[in-house]
Amino acid sequence: MITLHKVDQLRRQLSSWRLAGQRIALVPTMGNLHVGHLRLVERAKMLADRVIVTIFVNPLQFGAGEDFASYPRTLDEDRRKLAEYPTDLVFAPSVAEVYPRAQEEQTRVEVPGLSNILCGQTRPGHFVGVATVVCKLFNMTQPDVAVFGEKDFQQLLVIRRMVEDLQIPVEIVGMATVREPDGLAMSSRNGYLTPEQRAVAPAIYAVMSRIAERLRAGERDYAALESSAGRALQDAGLRPDYFQIRRVEDLLPPGGDDKELVILVAAYLGSARLIDNRTVTL
Ligand code: PAF
Repeated sequence: MITLHKVDQLRRQLSSWRLAGQRIALVPTMGNLHVGHLRLVERAKMLADRVIVTIFVNPLQFGAGEDFASYPRTLDEDRRKLAEYPTDLVFAPSVAEVYPRAQEEQTRVEVPGLSNILCGQTRPGHFVGVATVVCKLFNMTQPDVAVFGEKDFQQLLVIRRMVEDLQIPVEIVGMATVREPDGLAMSSRNGYLTPEQRAVAPAIYAVMSRIAERLRAGERDYAALESSAGRALQDAGLRPDYFQIRRVEDLLPPGGDDKELVILVAAYLGSARLIDNRTVTL
């Protein structure tokens, strides 16, 4: 497993693999890797000859007052974990390598509409930061395929839309969320939870599951279901940001004919903002 920090070194390495006719898969991450990330690496290896994992805590996707400074940076430990998985190359650039200009001068990629709802409403500019860095990572690595977790459901849709709109020649593969035995979605931000908060956090999955059952049982008053879920999260000790039932394809509120839905949740527990989702077919 090679570790590189510079774009020109990366390009040299990749061109030799491409000359040899090898398919390249990309797994973009911000590091602090957990089992969910490692599953992405395993999937990537099934889709390509070579797997690149990028580790970059992207300042452009964090708002003022968010956890950019405190986000765990654990490169040595991440490299040790990746060495046990089929990783060929770890690309861990510095902020200056990715953003050589001042960040305000950086050209940005914006996916309209999708970027401004749900998480984008609470975190203005977040998805512009995500789309911009993912576009740059695609340009740096020019992968055949890129693998992302479905826990960040809205992010996955933003990336799919960006790839379609900008005609970027990469296949986007989404992977099911990996959960702890009590249902909590694996996330680097779970590390922020105290033991008491960690005991409360599985309520997110439990409440989503109850709402999914009520939808499947035929309830269609989405606003009432959302409010009762919000109250249940509060009663469990969480501070909900949103609990929404939306259409899978575009995250807009569902109409009477829509059958493919997704329940999306964001909730605070102490300083941690946790997100999760579940799809439901009616
Ligand atoms: O999901 C993440 O870890 C990040 O948003 C990503 C896709 C690596 C972009 O920084």
